[in-house]
Amino acid sequence: MNLAGKTAILTGASRGIGPYIAKTLSAQGVTIIGIARSESGLNETKSMVESEGGTFHSYLQDLTDINELAPMVHKLEDQYGPIHILINNAGIEHYEHYDRLSRDKISDIMNTNVRCPMELTRVILPKMIEQKEGHVITIASLAGKKGLAYNSVYSASKAAMIMWSDGLRQEYRDSPVHVSVICPGFISDAGMFYDGHVPPPPLLGASNPQKVANAVMKALKKGSCEIIVNKGPIKPLLAISQLSWKISDTITRWFGVPALNRKRISG
Ligand SMILES: NC(=O)c1ccc[n+]([C@@H]2O[C@H](COP(=O)([O-])OP(=O)(O)OC[C@H]3O[C@@H](n4cnc5c(N)ncnc54)[C@H](OP(=O)(O)O)[C@@H]3O)[C@@H](O)[C@H]2O)c1
Repeated sequence: MNLAGKTAILTGASRGIGPYIAKTLSAQGVTIIGIARSESGLNETKSMVESEGGTFHSYLQDLTDINELAPMVHKLEDQYGPIHILINNAGIEHYEHYDRLSRDKISDIMNTNVRCPMELTRVILPKMIEQKEGHVITIASLAGKKGLAYNSVYSASKAAMIMWSDGLRQEYRDSPVHVSVICPGFISDAGMFYDGHVPPPPLLGASNPQKVANAVMKALKKGSCEIIVNKGPIKPLLAISQLSWKISDTITRWFGVPALNRKRISG
């Protein structure tokens, strides 16, 4: 896809990784429609993008209001024209013992991380097919590749996004629409992990958020389907986890991941 002149919807544009994606895409001439609940956060991203000559439109929306998403997309299309790129980036996590999680919290995570990307894509996809151009990119997580203790609903939501993207990619293989999923590990400097103020396990490390934005760009330019963003090589470990949950659990414990997650339970 030639990116100049294209329009992208980017959810979660108010803070964390979203602004990095906004800046990187807008530098290529993509108009960004940034969605989040925080007006001040969106304003900050807008100023940053516009100070570098890009175009950024803010749209305030709670993405857990699933029934509001189709009208929102239609409104945005009327206002800004065809949407060529959808980046499902907004996401939430919550560290807690599973037996202490409320039903509302589970709904919140699943609505934000799963139902919202599915609904936005359901609404935008027919237009992308009609206009013979489109790319749906979802920011999942390595947490979707190996379950996380004390954050299992988040893990489940990201696993859902990885498999959903996998299915969609095969289903729309012969269509003009591309489907990609990005799986970051721990991210430094900004975002939900950084905001937890807990250092990453030394053996795993953390990647710069720009690496996620670069992965989005790679997906757009090369049509890459799944990109892992991680400090060190993780694929052999993921392969082991397919062969033996016992070895995989032991390695995960050895890296200190469950202990780290336990520290992130608030209160
Ligand atoms: N940071 C990491 O280490 C890491 C690692 C792997 C994967 N990821 C994934 O990367 C994506 C971005 O994460 P991040 O680290 O940038 O998170 P973040 O700093 O917590 O930012 C989350 C973004 O999502 C938006 N959002 C959350 N709930 C929303 C809702 N109900 N309605 C509208 N917007 C909502 C937030 O905006 P408002 O609060 O203003 O609404 C914010 O812009 C997520 O999908 C996350 O799972 C992150």
